[in-house]
Amino acid sequence: KVLILDFGSQYTQLIARRVRELNIYSEIHPFNKIPTNLSEYKAVILSGSPNSVRGDKALHPELSELRTKKPMLAVCYGAQYLAHFSGGEVAPSNTREYGRANLSYIKNDDEFFIGINEGSQVWMSHSDTIKKLPTNGVLLASTSDVENAAYKIEGETTYAIQFHPEVYHSTDGKQLLENFLVKIAGLNQDWTPQSFVEETVEAIQEKVGNDKVVLGLSGGVDSTIAAVLLNKAIGDNLYCIFVNNGLLRKNEFESVLKQYEGMGLNVKGVDASERFLTALKGIEDPEKKRKAIGNAFIEVFDDEAHQITDVKWLAQGTIYPDVIESVSATGGPSATIKSHHNVGGLPDFMKLKIVEPLRAIFKDEVRRVGASLGVSPELLGRHPFPGPGLGIRILGDITAEKVRMLQEVDAIFIEGLKAWGLYDKVWQAGAMLLPVNSVGVMGDERTYEKCVALRAVESTDGMTADWVNLPYEFLQKTSNEIINKVKGVNRVVYDISSKPPATIEWE
Ligand code: XMP
Repeated sequence: KVLILDFGSQYTQLIARRVRELNIYSEIHPFNKIPTNLSEYKAVILSGSPNSVRGDKALHPELSELRTKKPMLAVCYGAQYLAHFSGGEVAPSNTREYGRANLSYIKNDDEFFIGINEGSQVWMSHSDTIKKLPTNGVLLASTSDVENAAYKIEGETTYAIQFHPEVYHSTDGKQLLENFLVKIAGLNQDWTPQSFVEETVEAIQEKVGNDKVVLGLSGGVDSTIAAVLLNKAIGDNLYCIFVNNGLLRKNEFESVLKQYEGMGLNVKGVDASERFLTALKGIEDPEKKRKAIGNAFIEVFDDEAHQITDVKWLAQGTIYPDVIESVSATGGPSATIKSHHNVGGLPDFMKLKIVEPLRAIFKDEVRRVGASLGVSPELLGRHPFPGPGLGIRILGDITAEKVRMLQEVDAIFIEGLKAWGLYDKVWQAGAMLLPVNSVGVMGDERTYEKCVALRAVESTDGMTADWVNLPYEFLQKTSNEIINKVKGVNRVVYDISSKPPATIEWE
């Protein structure tokens, strides 16, 4: 496997993903927490950084166990670091070095550049530039603005590049990573969804043995694939619980439960709608709603888990981005794990040991693993849906009637997206029930009813998002259908806000 040392670049996760796309397993670790089991890593990649190697905030990795001992590829900050502290020179650059550039010179007898030609587009993003190569540095490539765009160290398998091979705009970036990892470092490209499944199943069997495991299913991709993997490993010792919090999409509880049973999972569906509605009564504040929903879930889940005798483990669908500790720009690793809503899990009093089969993989990899396990494309392609469900899409207090109204609206919108072939082009879609009434006219009657907002966004990870340019004709038909069919709604608007500064959910 490959060790990626993170210096806090926004692109570090992309490096890991590109490497994995080459069917080579990679792991990200903060530059100042180098793992001790170094023999397991066959190559090292140093990431970029928002910091400068020249300032007080320069990050100083302890590379003595790595440099010259493992093939090393230094990207951006990494390349500047190796230059600056090993006999070269780094200085602020005079010209802008952001965005596209083309390699105007390539030392093409070096295997680093096999299959890559002069003119190849690369992506630059740096304000310092390497003025002088380090001791024993050999120039490998230049662009018109950046002379020292790539170099290697004579007598070592140490390579350095100023540009970012991990971003899509570096058109031959993947080839370059492959040249380094396969041709130079000699790694095998055998990390595939199938091999992941085999290894994970074995690891689960070894870890949990004959113990019982309980898992909360949400209907989403991650918890489902985690369940399928555990089921493959331990069969009936896996007890799944799927809670209906009354805030799911229309008919979701029944249809997903049926799907789970069809997949051979041992699932108990628990309809706790009333309990959640009662817990939410009169609450308007979004964070208080989240708390109320979270607490009710824990209570219900705990009740159910206690009915399984001798359960020892709690399984969760945590994925890699939730786990990676990133490095903060000031040097130290940031204290908090980037916590998504799933991390944190259940309270201590449950005293269960945790098993997280998807901890090492990214979302798109979860989907590929799911596909290799035979999970239906329909399930794998489902939009993300927040844990608190429609509860954070009903602005203001929540009542059974409002839930019904929003379920109807949401179903028309989502079915419409599917019928128009738009569903798979959208990352996430849903409807918000607004706490305003407005005047309308139906037939000859005045109405004074609710307004709903439709939201459809494109995104890769939900951190940033943009609204989707849905066809007007589709919006027109959808709006008509909603107002005609959903009692209590007389106005539909479409949300055209990006994130940031807005967020995807309205609460
Ligand atoms: P925002 O609204 O923060 O949403 O732009 C980003 C992504 O996170 C989902 N989301 C949640 N998921 N519990 C969850 O499990 C929550 O409380 C929650 N809030 C937002 C949202 O649906 C989007 O995919």
